[in-house]
Amino acid sequence: MAERKEEGRRIWAYLSILGILLAIPILILNGEQWLKRFLIYLSQASWGRGAARSLPLAKKVAQRFVAGESIDEAMAASRVINNHGMSVTLDYLGESVTEPEEARSARDEILSLFDQIDRLKLDANVSIKLTQLGLRIDPGLALDNMQQIMSRAASYNNRVRIDMEESDLVDSTLDIYRILKYENKFDNVGIVIQSYLYRSEQDVRRLISEGAWIRLCKGAYAEPPEAAFADKDDTDSSYLNLTRMMLSPEARENGVYLGIATHDEKMINGALQYIRDQEIQTNEFEFQMLYGIRRGLQVELIRKGYQVRIYVPYGAAWYPYLVRRLAERPANLWFFVSNLFKN
Ligand code: FDA
Repeated sequence: MAERKEEGRRIWAYLSILGILLAIPILILNGEQWLKRFLIYLSQASWGRGAARSLPLAKKVAQRFVAGESIDEAMAASRVINNHGMSVTLDYLGESVTEPEEARSARDEILSLFDQIDRLKLDANVSIKLTQLGLRIDPGLALDNMQQIMSRAASYNNRVRIDMEESDLVDSTLDIYRILKYENKFDNVGIVIQSYLYRSEQDVRRLISEGAWIRLCKGAYAEPPEAAFADKDDTDSSYLNLTRMMLSPEARENGVYLGIATHDEKMINGALQYIRDQEIQTNEFEFQMLYGIRRGLQVELIRKGYQVRIYVPYGAAWYPYLVRRLAERPANLWFFVSNLFKN
């Protein structure tokens, strides 16, 4: 019975892949924007998740972007990155959980992550998605889980950065961030801002006045035109504008520390231009990139004397993360497809 179920899943997986392969040329002909939207939809679709999990080859492709499924593999990858002179932020993969028990189990994994980082003396902190801790079930549950995580992190003098997810969650994410920081007095918590959102300039102004510890990224979700720039050029100019705001003398005097999270050389060079003009010290900001993406550029920045932190995801729930990475660069699809036909 179990074997027949497994066989059924496998056939479903191959049919799904066939469907995707047929869809790709159609979507390419209709423009890259459609392809991106389709992939982002796929990253959230449970049928896609089920199909990918039954494909050992998909797991193989995920290895380029994910450090492994176990905590030991994540520790080993972090050690290698540290040995190359770069810091790490670890991400235990998982998001949008629907059961409180799943949220508590993610919390427990993250608690032990801090124990391991300390035991192995790694230069690593942790990034967390609040929906993994139950934000979509009950914000109180996510807050409770976060409070336990923040205490454990603080006991090791370590830090947590809260990732930013879909735009309908920005307010509740910022609320939890501020409760942790101001009511619970955790000064080891940081936040992420996405340059594609119209609201971000307003959010950044407030975060600058609060002297926050911030990561700036472009944003990885499919957002409606009411919430976010549809045009890449607008997202890019917003990115450069927000970078300058958060590196300004006022921001630095208030204690803002910026993580410039991008693989885009135009963004990096734009930031560096401002950094040179303002004579900003290299310990006042850092560059951040994702595991497995633009490794040459990571090393080049280190060689030039800049601080670089690598975002290292690990865990069994790699599917939505992998598909978002494919969406960011549809050329990665060919890497994916060619691996499907390799042994
Ligand atoms: P862009 O997408 O314009 O790419 C610029 C160039 O980078 C490409 O031309 C290509 O050369 C390279 N590149 C980019 N993506 C690639 C990929 N997947 N594979 C291979 N090459 C690629 N998002 C979010 O919404 N919330 C969050 O909390 C975070 N957190 C986060 C942390 C860190 C450390 C990083 C680097 C990114 C995030 N992101 C994120 C993701 C972010 O929003 C964005 O989707 C990606 O970083 C891709 O955008 P770029 O800035 O790299 O530019």
